[in-house]
Formats: sequence, C-alpha cells, structure tokens
Amino acid sequence: MTTMRAVAALDSLPVTDPGALVDVELPVPELRPRDLLVEVLAVSVNPVDVKVRSGLGPQEQPRVLGWDAAGTVRAVGPEVEGFAVGDEVWYAGDLTRAGSNAELQAVDERIVAPRPTSLSPAEAAALPLTTLTAWESLFDRFRLGLGSTGDLLVLGAAGGVGSVLVQLAKQLTGVRVLGGAGKRESREWVQGLGADALVDHHDLVASVRAVAPDGVERLFSPHSAGNVEAFAEVLKPFGEVVAIDDPVGLDLLPLKAKSIAWHWELMFTRAMFGTPDMAEQGRVLGEAAALVDAGRLRTTLTTAIDDFSAAGLREAHRLLETGRTVGKVVVHR
Ligand SMILES: NC(=O)c1ccc[n+]([C@@H]2O[C@H](COP(=O)([O-])OP(=O)(O)OC[C@H]3O[C@@H](n4cnc5c(N)ncnc54)[C@H](OP(=O)(O)O)[C@@H]3O)[C@@H](O)[C@H]2O)c1
Repeated sequence: MTTMRAVAALDSLPVTDPGALVDVELPVPELRPRDLLVEVLAVSVNPVDVKVRSGLGPQEQPRVLGWDAAGTVRAVGPEVEGFAVGDEVWYAGDLTRAGSNAELQAVDERIVAPRPTSLSPAEAAALPLTTLTAWESLFDRFRLGLGSTGDLLVLGAAGGVGSVLVQLAKQLTGVRVLGGAGKRESREWVQGLGADALVDHHDLVASVRAVAPDGVERLFSPHSAGNVEAFAEVLKPFGEVVAIDDPVGLDLLPLKAKSIAWHWELMFTRAMFGTPDMAEQGRVLGEAAALVDAGRLRTTLTTAIDDFSAAGLREAHRLLETGRTVGKVVVHR
C-alpha cells in the first residue's frame, strides 16, 4: 500500500463549512528509525485540534490534525526496541508531526505505550493527551504525592483534562480535591469522578470560601483569562498555580503580594523539543493503562462518533467549539 485515507484541513474555515475538514488520499508516512507505523482505530478530539485548525490559514499541503489515538502497530522502524507488529497501543502524539486523523500514522515509540486491555479503542482514545497533561501537572509541576496534604482546586473539572486530573489526584495523592463545575451535568459528572467538594466558577471567590474559608494551596487552571485576581484571592500565601491554557496578554502581578508561583504545563514540550526524558511519556501512559485495567482510572469518553471521516471529525470539532462538552468526544471506525 502506498497511499492511505486521511482527513485534512486545507484552510481555516468555520466548522459549519464542509471544506473545514476534507477527506483526502495521502502517501503512507515514511518511518524514522524509532517510529511505529500505527493503524489508527479511534481518535479523540481536543481543544488543540480546534485551535490549530482555526489558526492555519491557506495550506500548500493538506494538514492532518489529531493527536490522541488508539490503534495497532503495522510496521516498525529499524531502531525500534519496545514494540512489534500487532501490538495494541495508545498515545497523544507530537504537535510538530502529521496527526492521527488518518488511516496510518508514524509516531516515535518513546511516546507510545500498550493500551489498556479492558477498554475498547474508542474508550481508550479518550484518555492519552489529557492523562499526560494531568499527570505532568500533578507530579512534575505541583510535585504531589500520597503524603501531600492541603487543598487542590481543579477548575474545569468536567472538561477533558479536569476529568482525569480529579481521578488521578484522588487515587495517587493525599490532597483534598475541590472540583470546579458550572452546569448541573458537569457537577454530577465531577461528583461521580470522586471530587471531595464542588465549587462554581461563575462565582469563584464566594464558592471557594464556602468550602475552604482560609483559601487553597494549589489551583489547576484550564481557564485563566480574566481570572488572575480571583486566583490571588482564593489562594493562600505561597500558593501555586498550574495553567494549561493560552490566555493572551496575561497579567500575573496580582499574584505577587502572596508570592504565588505560576507554572505552565504543555503536554507537547517533551516531544516538541526531543527532551532527553521524552520516554517518560511512554512510561506514564503504561502506568495509566495499568490504573485503568485495575479499575482505578476510568475512561472519560462521553460522546462516540462512529464515522471516521471528514464529516465525523467536523461534528466532533463542532461539539468542542461549543465550549460545553463534558468528558471527551471520540471518533472511531
Ligand atoms: N497545555 C496542555 O498540555 C493542554 C492539554 C489539554 C488541554 N489544554 C487546554 O486546556 C483548556 C481546557 O481543555 P479541556 O479539554 O480540559 O477542556 P474542555 O473539555 O473543552 O472543557 C469544557 C468544560 O469546561 C468548563 N468551562 C468552560 N468555560 C469555563 C470557564 N471560563 N471557567 C471554568 N470552566 C469552564 C465547562 O464546564 P462547566 O462550565 O459546566 O463547569 C465545559 O463543559 C483548553 O484551552 C485546551 O487547549 C492544554
């Protein structure tokens, strides 16, 4: 086989335009020495898919989006050590390479792991990108562990990342987890994930004070724009924020009086810069698969679209663009 089916963006068009994502035929990717060639069975759609599509402009070559994937290894590069043809895998990919919205994808083995045996490909595809983001936030940026105490406020707890972060914090750290949720559906979902208490981001300061009168030690933020003054109010002195969004022109000065630390987390940093510890992402996904198979981490899939085509992916992007999705939207074969 020399060509494959894929879904690509050719320009930044509104999601209602049938040209926003189109079905194309492309050459099968060439493998680098440590690459796996994966037959993609299911992908989830993340806000990054929508952000990249919206910021592309006219493309000379079709641009294949998509990062989360669950699939089967069909070929391996000459220096691959950890995988063989037929392995069932999952991964969140690399922002700088062609994505998972394709029949076949080349991906570096260091950011791949065997996927959970207890989940379908669609249920698995919901998890990798958000799990890596949540894991790196909790353990690399906040440096939490089972012996940690105090409060962690998780804004956007019903969103893709928050839905995993709440579960991992409850399973693998000692902190009290306050889940931020607005809609009734979000509140019920976040309670079901095990949050110890709920707060409403529409009235953040008052609702945090109701459950943590002295403030919180840590705040996870997927929604920072316009919120820094409220963060300064609800955090204790020497508190910490981990933020994962892209708030343009952010002013952090309100955090200075309390000496509050601000950490950025970007799940793509390791693969984008080929950091020496990039294989850590494969290891984390392996641990996450074991947690899933042990019944300690559950899939966050809420919407499954059985149409792995441009139409199915446009519908997934449309849902994400509402900004109201709970859990994850997956597109599968
Ligand atoms: N840095 C990274 O590596 C990384 C990785 C993944 C995602 N991200 C970024 O993180 C952000 C969130 O992504 P996600 O996939 O977790 O979210 P998502 O699934 O898109 O989250 C949707 C949920 O967020 C809640 N929400 C919406 N606006 C909010 C606000 N202003 N304040 C608090 N909650 C709000 C809504 O629930 P309720 O209003 O009902 O509570 C909504 O249902 C995006 O900007 C994404 O690009 C970054």
